[in-house]
Amino acid sequence: MAEQTVQKRVTERTWRPVFPTPAGLIVSVDASGRPNIITLGEVFNLSIGNPVWVGLSIRAATYSHGLIREQGEFTVNLPSTSLLEAVVGCGRCSGRDGVDKFARFGLTPLASRHVRPPIVAECPVNLECRLVGFHHVGDHDLFIGDVIAEHVDETMLGPDGKPDSAKLDPLILLRGGFWGIGPKLHGWP
Ligand SMILES: Cc1cc2nc3c(=O)[nH]c(=O)nc-3n(C[C@H](O)[C@H](O)[C@H](O)COP(=O)(O)O)c2cc1C
Repeated sequence: MAEQTVQKRVTERTWRPVFPTPAGLIVSVDASGRPNIITLGEVFNLSIGNPVWVGLSIRAATYSHGLIREQGEFTVNLPSTSLLEAVVGCGRCSGRDGVDKFARFGLTPLASRHVRPPIVAECPVNLECRLVGFHHVGDHDLFIGDVIAEHVDETMLGPDGKPDSAKLDPLILLRGGFWGIGPKLHGWP
């Protein structure tokens, strides 16, 4: 064991210890097809290539929790930094109270190809997902989605036809605040 040369504060009580995470706008629908948006900071890759599965952690008290469990489908929409206001807004009110978050925050629903929940036009990347797993995990529940289609704004594509990371400008959550990303440091090793 190395000699301790750096002083560290140690605590057994922490909060959202892994950072950063992307902000996500998740769209689900009720039985009549009416869409609702929830803002999530807990959006992550689970299986990255075959299959492509993503995870969401959602509190049982939210309206979206029941909609996704009942309807089994959702879209993940990854906003750029210009959508900060809508991202905060969609996380501060509930569709349970009848609010149309698309209208309230100036967002546009676009029809998905394979699922009933629409995608958010203003987000440069959108994923159509089918629910394939659900687990209780402490103060949130884990929803696992099979990504059956990805939409990317054509203006965000590089010459190789893949999303150009320099253009995406994702909105990042770093512990208590929102951030953009800094400059690229290195390519994939
Ligand atoms: C930046 C931000 C991140 C959030 N992350 C989560 C999250 O990961 N999981 C969750 O259950 N709620 C999260 N919330 C809270 C929900 O977005 C909020 O409870 C929302 O009003 C629920 O909407 P609904 O009732 O229409 O589903 C977050 C809110 C904000 C502003």
